[in-house]
Amino acid sequence: MSSASEQVISGLEGVLACESSVAFIDGNIPELSYRGYNIHDIAETLTYEQVVYLLWYDELPSPEQLHTFRNDLAARRGIPSVVIDLLRLMPASAHPMAGLRTAVSLLGTLDPQADDNSPADLHRKAADLTAKIPTIVAVQARLQMGQAPIEPDASLSLAGNYHYMLTGKRPDTTITRTIDTSLLLYAEHETNASTFTCRAVVGTESDYYSAVVAGIGAIKGPLHGGAIDEVMRMFLEIDQPERAGAYLDQALAAKRKISGFGHRVYRAGDARAPHLRAMAERLAEATGDRKWFTIATTVEQHMRQAKGIIANVDYYAAPVLYHLGFPLALFTNFVASARISGWSAHIFEQYANNRLIRPRALYTGHRGRQLPADYQ
Ligand code: ACO
Repeated sequence: MSSASEQVISGLEGVLACESSVAFIDGNIPELSYRGYNIHDIAETLTYEQVVYLLWYDELPSPEQLHTFRNDLAARRGIPSVVIDLLRLMPASAHPMAGLRTAVSLLGTLDPQADDNSPADLHRKAADLTAKIPTIVAVQARLQMGQAPIEPDASLSLAGNYHYMLTGKRPDTTITRTIDTSLLLYAEHETNASTFTCRAVVGTESDYYSAVVAGIGAIKGPLHGGAIDEVMRMFLEIDQPERAGAYLDQALAAKRKISGFGHRVYRAGDARAPHLRAMAERLAEATGDRKWFTIATTVEQHMRQAKGIIANVDYYAAPVLYHLGFPLALFTNFVASARISGWSAHIFEQYANNRLIRPRALYTGHRGRQLPADYQ
């Protein structure tokens, strides 16, 4: 009989679990493209709405299509008051991702068509959650800051309105561009753990909301989207750039994984990271507060020398969100509020060509045991 290591592919590393035409990653170059468009060509050019349309319909929208799509998303931003009541009821100690997961689950119960898995209704639900999740996250942020939630403004873009619901201020074009780019860089990333989770739920022919709730549960983990909160906590703990080297040496000596570094697929750099690094630097310049960017670059340099491990998407996204005024405890919620568009594209794909996802385990337990006499 073969050994476990010959048969089990730990973490499903390198396994091709499905066909997909949404995103392409070559971790050795590194290359990331959405529906054939290289991320470097779209990151600081397209708006998040254009990217969502591209991910869902496989083509960039015409001006008329974009106008209709944007208006539809904008009209869906409001959330029922019962969802706000639920968010208010949650204990302050609850993880904000648990709050988001529960709020989305409640939205599912309020949808009389929740179990309609037809393509048209799936697109309606996807538009609904892509519009509503940023509102939920902004309400969570306002409540956490002890401030009243702000009604969405349909005249603003999704990115602009996100900032407005968070701060009560209408953002300038630089802030809107920064949020647009952050959202679109987080929008999609092939069969990452949370997207695979969504596809596995769809594989049983369960409903859209169940898939998204499961995806939120998966992205919450600190090895996945949850890493972004940990990155900023690390920067805050380091506090002074000159302490960065000693902090890292100590953490590595204790065999700690450093959040914001490493990736299962990217070996030669994360294709998204240079854009976030550039934005973090621009925000540092614009605000005159270079501390977080300096700490980040110092830790990155030390990490490269010590371990040769790359900074991933979450690394420079952390100071970007911090400068934008997102509360630290809600960084992962921001990531989920962007990834809903990519999850949805994969959910459409999985329903359209579904086969139950059901791998096997290599059994390593007992066999052939007899019940003891006193149990018979
Ligand atoms: N800090 C220190 N060492 C690391 C790190 C890290 N962040 N990442 C990998 N390594 C080391 C491992 O200890 C291991 O070393 P070894 O061979 O001496 O044991 C080697 O690099 C390979 O690492 P694995 O854990 O096998 O890599 P895997 O592909 O399983 O994990 C992961 C990838 C989970 C992302 C890992 O790099 C990690 O834990 N990073 C920190 C968390 C993080 O930033 N996650 C966000 C990922 S991006 C996203 O999901 C949005």
